[in-house]
Amino acid sequence: MNNETTALNPDKLKELVEHVFGLLGGAVVSAMIYLGDRLGLYRALHNAGALTSEALARATGLNERWVREWLRGQAGAHLVEYRGDGRFALSPEAAVILADESSPFFAAGGFCALPQQFAVLEKLPEAFRTGVGLAYDAFGPEGAVGIERFLAPWFRTFLVPMALPRLEGVVAKLVAGAIVADVGCGAGVALLEMAKTYPRSQFHGYEISRHALTRAEANRASAGVSNVTFHAAGGESIGSDGLFDLVTTFDCLHDMTDPAAVMRAIRKALKPDGTWLIADINAKPTFEENLERNPMVAMMYGFSVLSCMSSALSVPGGAGLGTLGFTEPLAREMTVAAGFSRFARHDFDDPVNAFYEVRP
Ligand SMILES: C[S@@+](CC[C@H](N)C(=O)[O-])C[C@H]1O[C@@H](n2cnc3c(N)ncnc32)[C@H](O)[C@@H]1O
Repeated sequence: MNNETTALNPDKLKELVEHVFGLLGGAVVSAMIYLGDRLGLYRALHNAGALTSEALARATGLNERWVREWLRGQAGAHLVEYRGDGRFALSPEAAVILADESSPFFAAGGFCALPQQFAVLEKLPEAFRTGVGLAYDAFGPEGAVGIERFLAPWFRTFLVPMALPRLEGVVAKLVAGAIVADVGCGAGVALLEMAKTYPRSQFHGYEISRHALTRAEANRASAGVSNVTFHAAGGESIGSDGLFDLVTTFDCLHDMTDPAAVMRAIRKALKPDGTWLIADINAKPTFEENLERNPMVAMMYGFSVLSCMSSALSVPGGAGLGTLGFTEPLAREMTVAAGFSRFARHDFDDPVNAFYEVRP
């Protein structure tokens, strides 16, 4: 035993024990948020005033005893308000975060793939030994839905009205008829938002996850647009020299096994006056700065091990950047190496992502 373990500071110990149980509490409450979203409990509480567990059970067709236990836990977690006399209500603020999927603040979708994200814990000890991680499809179809629901609120609210007009000359090209690629397009929400707004333009999505592509085709069918094509192909092979006016990559470069190859392919595929819009996690340049100033640092490293870095290491020799790995200095360096000469950062008021406008 060394001195560090024998000389325990009782206050620090108490604080840390509370902290650790607080983290366990967060994990368990996250599981309850998953159930609230999946079972429609938040949606049933939304705009319903203060409800008893009997009333909420009737409204959702669920068993009262289980609903009561869930409600009490939600009140304890300060997600649902207890109004006395066995009645519970969702505040307007909680409703936009937990119940209203059309809101830009909607976050409950980020919990919908938790069972699949935690299920890979069975496989990750092997990854820690071999160094090789799991591709996105390891999470099954629910993994693709989880990412879609997590990121869609921003695309639906801000991409077309706020972000695109800030890019030099892009909207005029889209109105007139441009050719656009979204690399790592996931379930296609971003492309479909653009395609609905700019019917004269042609949109191509590139994706290697078959589950994401299945969602993308379903979303295309329900959007009823005819100017979108999804390709089961990686960004490394978007081909077609100088074809695209605009290329976008949303939250995917840090997940890729070979982002440098994808960047070179994008450079080749862009027109000489084309634009590449990158959205990627707003990581501070160094680990030390993230530790000190990024309130989401622990969650980000957790998601990196569960998903982002794992995907980026899913082939031997993968780049393995991970959730906080694609920093602005690295983005500048890698885009120069791929043959781009212009780089501008934008602040689109997103708590998670940084945005870069990159041009040949
Ligand atoms: C976090 S998700 C983001 C999906 C989508 N852009 C969105 O914002 O909803 C990252 C995606 O990148 C995809 N991906 C990873 N490597 C890729 C590659 N080399 N080419 C194309 N897509 C890739 C994954 O399959 C996954 O769907």
